[in-house]
This record gives sequence, structure tokens and C-alpha cells, in this order.
Amino acid sequence: MSHTIAKTKSKTTFLCTVCRHRESKWLGRCPECGSWNSFEESVEQPAAAQKRPRAESVPVPLSSIPTAEALRLDSGMGEMNRVLGGGIMKGSVSLLAGEPGIGKSTLMLQLAAGIDSAGRVLYISGEESPAQIRLRADRLGVRSDRIEIFSETELSALLGVCEKLKPIVVILDSIQTVYSGDIGSVPGTVNQIKLCAQELIDWAKTHGAALFLVGHVTKEGYIAGPKVVEHMVDTVLYFDSGNAEIRLLHCGKNRFGSVDEIGIFEMGEQGLTQVENPAAVFLSRRTGDQPSGVAVAPIYEGSRILLVEIQSLVVAAKGGVSRVFSERIDSARVSRMAAVLEKHLKVRLSDQDIYVNVGGGIRIGEVGVDLPLCLSLYSARINQPLPALTASVGEISLAGEVHPVGHLERRLRAVREMGFKRLVSPVGKDKQLQLPDFCLPVSTIAEAVRNGFQS
Ligand code: TYD
Ligand code: MG
Repeated sequence: MSHTIAKTKSKTTFLCTVCRHRESKWLGRCPECGSWNSFEESVEQPAAAQKRPRAESVPVPLSSIPTAEALRLDSGMGEMNRVLGGGIMKGSVSLLAGEPGIGKSTLMLQLAAGIDSAGRVLYISGEESPAQIRLRADRLGVRSDRIEIFSETELSALLGVCEKLKPIVVILDSIQTVYSGDIGSVPGTVNQIKLCAQELIDWAKTHGAALFLVGHVTKEGYIAGPKVVEHMVDTVLYFDSGNAEIRLLHCGKNRFGSVDEIGIFEMGEQGLTQVENPAAVFLSRRTGDQPSGVAVAPIYEGSRILLVEIQSLVVAAKGGVSRVFSERIDSARVSRMAAVLEKHLKVRLSDQDIYVNVGGGIRIGEVGVDLPLCLSLYSARINQPLPALTASVGEISLAGEVHPVGHLERRLRAVREMGFKRLVSPVGKDKQLQLPDFCLPVSTIAEAVRNGFQS
């Protein structure tokens, strides 16, 4: 009763659309992966035809394996290379997720044009016609004979073209528009997304091509959409908006690099331009005094220092129950800092509603934000602005001590370059660093508040 007996002619069987396990009769639950109602009827090809050609696998000497650099392609965009961990890994699969209209297709077309290699790039679009893509390419000033545009959504047609062209990079825009005729003709269902992604991934891995899967996400619909392929891919990229035209590229998962790097772009008339010196893109330029509740912080993001503005608003809580509204900085951190201030500086925050924001729409998870967050909250609470051109950085313990943070020298340099007059910062391990005219070394939050507010 085994289903592995060699078949000599086509036969109807049932295929699990989740794990591709076959059974001779329909079952309610797959014995292999445990999914419910995942079996669909399919015609099994004779065993010989079904077998995928597989590269012969033999051990190789370690020294003969190409180094990682040799396996990477230059995307032509420094910001993209940085986020991917140093370029596009050959044979890697990336998911690019973002809201509709954020600029995913634009980014992919620019990437297709920028790839620094002689191979071909296949751009599969199930969303736009070749004429529409040409229009965008003209707008972006993209001219490349190596990009092949293919408007098709049926999986076997896509695989056929991949086989024929043997591209080095394949872009599928978007994963929600493809379908496999084997399991029906409605694209975008979870089963279709999984199956089509898996087939394309198999193809890319076998041929050493880099594959980009574009996935639309809306805040509500992410789980049912491209999320289901996250575990199949090597890299998950999110494309988000910062303030106005700024677009941020984050990495949610990366098998070939760190996930800390962010790429910063600006959307303009001619598509996306890279913001290579982003230290101040998130900073509002002000002349004269700053408002209460604002504190500037040199934050270490990925491998760069960004100057960001922490903004707090504190208002009496209705009914006396304090709430924290903070999307860009973890609310737990905000509550913790509010508690530290209340305990060590005797300012009452537990009867206040606290709103915290970061200018420019960037999220901050770095510990160095503690001190500027505290100063911003304190400034909002006492309704007194910090002196102009003051920045701060430091980690704060529950005991109210200010602890040193990494990369203090680079932070200092960034703050000075942006024309600030001083940096309230922890007493560093390296005393040489403490420029007496510029740094204001503090060791407790009480000291930071006492000295920080004096101009
Ligand atoms: P698009 O790449 O189509 O977004 P997605 O694929 O994520 O849905 O970009 C959509 C937006 O970008 C659209 O509102 C127009 C704008 N845009 C520009 O501002 N400049 C440009 O050069 C291009 C090509 C698009
Ligand atoms: Mg698009």
C-alpha cells in the first residue's frame, strides 16, 4: 500500500498543498505536516519525469569553497548592500514587504538596473503591464538591456522562462499575484503563496540565482499574506516610510548578515535616492529656543550615528490613571524612565498621561536613548525647555545611575559636526574623551537634570 512504488503512467493522487506530501486518497489531515484540509487532487507524473535534476553532491575541501565576497553581487545601491550584509548573496532568497505605494516596485526596478554583473535580471510583474513598467523605467532614467520584463502570473510559465533565460537575479512583483494551476487558479491564498514561493525558491537555490519576492502588507492583513513565506526565505526586508519622503529599509531576518543595519532613501521625482550621510535627516532645524519636551540624541543605528529628536508631552490623566502612548520607543522603557524620574527627582508622573514620539518616524531600541528620554520627559513635565544646542546620551539604571554607552567618541563627533554646543553624557571609561568644553559628564540622573538644564 506504499505510495512510493514506481509509477509507469500518470495517476490521480492527492497532494498536500502545505508540505507537498502525496497520498493515494484524500485525507482530512496530512500525516506528514499535520495541516488540516490541505489535500487537493492532482495528477502525478511518472516517477522518472517527476524527479528534479539534482546537482551531484560530493564533499569538497574547505579551502576550495569560494569566500563570501565572491558569492555576493553588488546591487549598485550602497544602502541596499549595507542592509543585506554586504551585497546580494547569490542563491539567496529575500522577501521585500511593505505597504502598497511605499515604493517597492521602484526599489526593485532600480536594483535590477544597478546590479553590477554581466548576467541577466528577470523582472516578473503580475501587477503592471510592460508598458507601465517602461513608463516607470523612463521616469527613473533606467536603461538596461539586461533586464527582461515578464508579465505573467502562472507558476509553470514563470519556471519555464527562468529555465530558458537563466537569470542571475529574479524579481517577483508580487508573490500575491502568482498562482499554480496545480492547485486552482486563485492567486493570493495562503496555499498558493506557499507553493509558488517554494517552487521558485527551489529553482533559485538549484541555479544559484538571487530571488526577491515582493509582498504587499497592510497592518491588518500581514499574517495571511507574505508572512507565511518568512520562514522559507533567507532575508526579510521591510520597506517603511519615515517622515515625508524618507523611506527606511529594515531587515527582520538575515541569514547572511546582521539585522541591525537600516537603509535610508528619499523618494523624489526620479525615484529613490540614497541618503548616504543621514546623521541629520531626522532632525528638525530650529532657530532660537527649542520647545519644552524636546531632547536630541545621537543614536547608534546599525553602524551609523543618527541624530534624532525625542519629543514628550505630559498631561494630567483623566481619572488619575496614567497611560503611556509611545510607538517609536518601547512603552515599557518609557514607563521605566518615568518611574526613575518620579523616584529620584520627585516629579510626579504617575498621575499623568505620557505621549512620546521620535521625529522622523524612526524606531529606537538602543539603550543610549534612556538619558535623552528622561530629559525630554522631565522638560515636558516642568514645562521648561532644555538649553538650545544640547544633546544627550546614556543608559540609566533603575537606581538612577547614568551608565556609559558604546561608540561615545563617534557620537561626540557626530554631535559636534552638527553644530551642537554640548553633550550630556556618562563619565566614559576613556577619560581622554571627555572634552571639558563640550562634554558634560554626569553619573546620576539627578546630576544630569541639574546640570543639563543650566545653559
Ligand atoms: P511603487 O514603487 O509603485 O510602490 P509599491 O510597489 O510599493 O506599491 O511607488 C509608488 C509611489 O511612489 C507612487 O505613489 C508614486 C511614487 N513615485 C515617486 O514619487 N517618484 C518616482 O520616481 C516613482 C517611480 C514613484
Ligand atoms: Mg508595486
